[in-house]
Amino acid sequence: MKHLVCLSDWSAEEVKETLKMAEKLKYERKNGIMHNHMLKGKTLGLIFSKSSTRTRVSFEVAMYQLGGYSMFLSANDIQLGRGETVSDTARTLSRYIDGIMIRTYKQSDVEELAAYGTIPIINGLTDSQHPCQILADLQTVKEYKGKFSGLKLAYVGDGNNVANSLLIGCAKVGMDIWVATPEGYECDEKSVEIAKKAALESGSVVNTGYDPFEAVKDADVVYTDTWVSMGMESEKEKRVKTFMPYQVNNELMSKAKPDAIFMHCLPAYRGYEVTADVIDGPQSVVFDEAENRLHAQKAVLVKLMG
Ligand code: CP
Ligand code: NVA
Repeated sequence: MKHLVCLSDWSAEEVKETLKMAEKLKYERKNGIMHNHMLKGKTLGLIFSKSSTRTRVSFEVAMYQLGGYSMFLSANDIQLGRGETVSDTARTLSRYIDGIMIRTYKQSDVEELAAYGTIPIINGLTDSQHPCQILADLQTVKEYKGKFSGLKLAYVGDGNNVANSLLIGCAKVGMDIWVATPEGYECDEKSVEIAKKAALESGSVVNTGYDPFEAVKDADVVYTDTWVSMGMESEKEKRVKTFMPYQVNNELMSKAKPDAIFMHCLPAYRGYEVTADVIDGPQSVVFDEAENRLHAQKAVLVKLMG
């Protein structure tokens, strides 16, 4: 039984194969080639304890276009929200459906679902990881740059779920990653350790520090995310003050290579982590990146549920 709880569950080969499949499925979609036989008769449950636009819609549409069915399960409406255990939920849902995508707070809840369920579990974001996002991001980099090795991706801002998964994803495919966060907001140590191990195998560089200008220098890709992730709203005021020097604006972008692309998982908050002229400017690829959630997740679904 294969899951996508964390990108560390997958070998570099599996990540690359999935990206190839995503490319093929995107081509088919763009050229009117139907692939609605691939998950015919399969049902995916989508459990959400946090808000979502991209993840929810792209998974629902992906299941539809692959010939399957999806079921939106707000954690507030199912018994999980009233205290039914994760393990009982996993064992019950496994009797009805063929896979679960879950967006929640604790990574350990997703691990528990995978441990007790008998169907594939897909992490649709936790406080510590966002693997589906990173597969779409890697697909986007490949489209724009044609390769991974020899490229430098700079992530500037909060050492959050997206940054943790990016570290692992970039290291697996052999792209250098430099992360700059304020002190006290570093990526989690376990993700850095996993990434460094993967980088040894792929021959890439993992560098974490505090200087956004050093990180962005000669970068091929500049990436940021919100300073206030879901569940951290009460820290907003403090965070905005701390993170201002990490804003991605034209001055910071000018340190990257002239043909660098700008990426953001979205939702974005203009005037905070990124200025409008950058995210709405010519270097920004954020909507291709958002689109690729659909294609990359289709590849994940076919791999795990096909
Ligand atoms: N990037 C991302 O996961 O977006 P949503 O929160 O809208 O799903
Ligand atoms: N880091 C953000 C990502 C949203 C897709 C959050 O967790 O809210």
